[in-house]
Amino acid sequence: MKTSLRSKLTISFVLVIIINGIVTSWMGVHLIGDEIIRRAQNNVRTDLNSAREVYRERLGEIRDVVRFTAVRSFMKESLMGSNWDVTKAELQAIRENESLDVLTLADKNGVVLFRARDPGSFGDSQIHDHVVAAALSTREVVASTEIVSRQELREESEDLASQARVRLVPTPMTAPTQERVETAGMMLEAAAPIFGDSANVLGVLYAGKLLNKNYEIVDKVKDMVYKGEKYKGKDTGTVTIFEGDLRISTNVRRSGGERAIGTRVSQEVYDEVIKKGVPWIGRAFVVNGWYITAYEPIRNLNGKVIGMLYVGMLEAPYIDLRNRLVFTFLGITLLTVILLSIIVDFTTGKIVKPVKDLLLATQKVAEGDLEQRVEIGSHDEIGRLADSFNKMTTELQKANDEYQSLTRTLEDKVRDKTEELKEAQDQIVRSEKLSSLGKMAAGIAHEINNPLTSILINSHLIAEKLSGEEKQRFGENLDLIIDETTRSSAIVSGLLEFSRQTPPEKRPANVNDVIEETLLLLRSQVLAHNVEIDKDLGSDLPPITIDENKIKQVFTNIILNAVDAMADGGTLYISSRFAPERECVEIKFRDTGHGIRAQDMGKIFDPFFTTKGTKGTGLGLSVSYGIIEQHNGELDIQSEIGKGTTVSICLPVSESKRILSPRDARRENG
Ligand SMILES: Nc1ncnc2c1ncn2[C@@H]1O[C@H](COP(=O)(O)OP(=O)(O)OP(=O)(O)O)[C@@H](O)[C@H]1O
Ligand SMILES: [Mg+2]
Repeated sequence: MKTSLRSKLTISFVLVIIINGIVTSWMGVHLIGDEIIRRAQNNVRTDLNSAREVYRERLGEIRDVVRFTAVRSFMKESLMGSNWDVTKAELQAIRENESLDVLTLADKNGVVLFRARDPGSFGDSQIHDHVVAAALSTREVVASTEIVSRQELREESEDLASQARVRLVPTPMTAPTQERVETAGMMLEAAAPIFGDSANVLGVLYAGKLLNKNYEIVDKVKDMVYKGEKYKGKDTGTVTIFEGDLRISTNVRRSGGERAIGTRVSQEVYDEVIKKGVPWIGRAFVVNGWYITAYEPIRNLNGKVIGMLYVGMLEAPYIDLRNRLVFTFLGITLLTVILLSIIVDFTTGKIVKPVKDLLLATQKVAEGDLEQRVEIGSHDEIGRLADSFNKMTTELQKANDEYQSLTRTLEDKVRDKTEELKEAQDQIVRSEKLSSLGKMAAGIAHEINNPLTSILINSHLIAEKLSGEEKQRFGENLDLIIDETTRSSAIVSGLLEFSRQTPPEKRPANVNDVIEETLLLLRSQVLAHNVEIDKDLGSDLPPITIDENKIKQVFTNIILNAVDAMADGGTLYISSRFAPERECVEIKFRDTGHGIRAQDMGKIFDPFFTTKGTKGTGLGLSVSYGIIEQHNGELDIQSEIGKGTTVSICLPVSESKRILSPRDARRENG
């Protein structure tokens, strides 16, 4: 398929725009997406700091309780053997008030003296407890998070052990484990030594708060940081405390709505935070959805990683925000592409249209239409091209016109010359025909003329001598001899005339006079045929040099032919005038007779051609033609059958011997 220039331009421009759009969109989407995720991660990092603060604060509270209680006087006194009742009551009240799970007093060897939670259980040693041991050995207040075994929990209280017990829920993407139930608990613990009067250690007071299924910290962080915000029915922010990789305190909810206790962290996070002990920030799948999360390890007093603190923000709001931005961005890009495409289409149209016009004009010029011009208003390259094109076609047209007119004049010239040649040829043929005929006729006429004259004279003599009966018997025959001999004599003199034996004797004369004299001679014939004469003779004719007798003979021939043609009468119009354009005196004889048949027109100048049978010799016109030729004049005959005939004679005014080519009557009547 042939692609038009416009399509090519449009396609390439649109391709550029689209590629640009795609690249820009791709970069834009990534920049926006990365920025949003980066901000979200910053937020979650800050949130993790807040969570840590709350966690530490809670641990600090417990530490403060033991620190301040340990220095109270009743503690020392009771360890020295008095005031036991006060101590027991106080410790029970403090445990209640501070909502502690454990508040226990032990002696300097770690042997339990009194449990505020369970006063009936005492006498066991807690020296294996890191915090207790540390407080006794360092004589400092010690606080830490510790894993407490089921056995120890049971020693504190049976219900604490059951609170700590967490059944593992199978969770995808977690590290493999054989465990089904976690029985140990994770506890915020603090211990303070109790000193005697001489700064000797008398015993130790320790307190604890079990984190398993205790939502105090996580919910506090959530309320503080996320203010209970929800997105599409889900909490925006979630906080969790892990014991190892196990969720023991969380506000992440499972699909049923219950807290996701017993679910575990993904293997990826486990490897980083628990195994390597480093914080982890990133996108993670938490229980039932994607979160932007931050984890950090929780260590015990010995620095061993025993759990994790986690905060996570639902990814959906950020993703939705990013998607909205991306779609807006893509929308703008698309709109730009469409707009630019329209502009490109319009512009290429504007560029291509003149080219199309030029193409069309070129095609038309190629088909031969040289009138083609292109109208382009612009003054750029295409405008200049159009100008050049117009100039070119103008030149082409001019050249073509010149060529055509040259051809035309050439054709005309060839035609004229051909005609002239033909005329000359005809003239030669006729002249030769006439001259050979004339020579022969002259010879014959000369030989016959004398015998004829003698026959005529003798016939007349005999006729005069005859009388009576003889005259009656032979008179008629003699008359016939005389008539026929006279006719023969006329033919002979005609032949002599035709053969131009007698050269013309020219003198200046007025043609009008010659006409009048001829008419006078022919008056009787004219009248006898009931023919009217209508004359229009020019008054200011220049005198011409002619042989009057010969011209009179011509006029006689022509007038008699006209009279013969008007057997039932008619009008003969005779006119004479000076024709300045041909420098001749023009004489016209127009009759209203029967006219000449077309097939005869070519023969009327031939000697002996007649339509009049024995009445005519057929020499009249050929003799007349010869005489006019002797005068360097012209003789034309035009005729229309049934309407009449016009004979025109043109006799030159100038004395100089101009050779006027007498026109052929055949041509005139075409
Ligand atoms: N005015 C005319 N009207 C009709 N026919 C004419 C006229 N003039 C000439 N012709 C025709 O031309 C022929 C030749 O004429 P042309 O004068 O040479 O001979 P002709 O008249 O027949 O004989 P002649 O002149 O000896 O009497 C005529 O026979 C006639 O047919
Ligand atoms: Mg005649």
